[in-house]
Amino acid sequence: MNYNLLKGKKGIIFGALDENSIAWHVAKKCVDEGAQIVLTNAPVAFRMGKIEEMAASLNSVAIPADATSMEDLEQLFKKSMEIFGGKVDFILHSIGMSLNIRKNKEYHDLNHDWMLKTFDISAVSFHKVMQTADKLDAINDWGSIIALSYIAAQRTFPYYGEMAESKALLESFARSFGAHLGKTKKVRVNTISQSPTITTAGSGVKGFDMFYKYTQNMAPLGNADADACADYCVLLFSDLSRMVTMQNLYHDGGFSSMGMDPTLMD
Ligand SMILES: NC(=O)c1ccc[n+]([C@@H]2O[C@H](COP(=O)([O-])OP(=O)(O)OC[C@H]3O[C@@H](n4cnc5c(N)ncnc54)[C@H](O)[C@@H]3O)[C@@H](O)[C@H]2O)c1
Repeated sequence: MNYNLLKGKKGIIFGALDENSIAWHVAKKCVDEGAQIVLTNAPVAFRMGKIEEMAASLNSVAIPADATSMEDLEQLFKKSMEIFGGKVDFILHSIGMSLNIRKNKEYHDLNHDWMLKTFDISAVSFHKVMQTADKLDAINDWGSIIALSYIAAQRTFPYYGEMAESKALLESFARSFGAHLGKTKKVRVNTISQSPTITTAGSGVKGFDMFYKYTQNMAPLGNADADACADYCVLLFSDLSRMVTMQNLYHDGGFSSMGMDPTLMD
């Protein structure tokens, strides 16, 4: 069911790689709710994936930008404003990649150069996106910015490597930049802490299937899927959530508030 919650709004969506990507679900739902969007991803992802095809199916365009490059981000915002004929109303940061996880390095044996690269891609890029948008004055008053996080920022989970610290940093950027953008432009910044979700990045974590089943059983409502995450993003991009900012919002079927579940003890 559509409610036209984003009628007339314009947004940039980072991180749709394929039809499993959380960002892809969000992009489709934003368009269904009346928004005009631009999809963006790293240039290398354009060669691997089918991003242009995906954008065309939404009557949208795809613009390559490495989210760690200030030059790419500046071009992205300038081109997007040209396409929209004005500023943007919302931004989704749905970017994550760990070099140590990719190369099967365990937490007690991390390569620290790779760790810094992971921080740059998965967290510092969020600051870079907001700084670029702020400098170009690219966001409308009462706009909304979201990044996707994971509960490993607060609690320790196995096999998540330095992504745990990346997510802690990401959530901190949301609070600190949220304070600035709130004061200056009434723009809100939040992170959504999402359930394990079957995607390219998610499935890259060792033991993901086990993880997924565990949280599915522990969360009273079960895991939140990508489609439900897209609904939550639409709510946070809409005017209905205009006074919510600088929050890390759990979207996990209740998992984060559970201690123990008797069925799992068996
Ligand atoms: N899947 C899960 O279980 C889960 C759970 C909680 C949070 N998240 C978070 O959700 C977000 C989206 O992940 P996903 O699960 O949809 O997987 P995904 O692999 O579909 O998305 C990750 C995206 O990051 C992009 N990316 C990587 N490096 C980039 C760069 N330098 N510049 C621009 N883009 C770059 C990739 O191309 C890809 O599109 C990530 O932040 C992830 O940590 C995922």
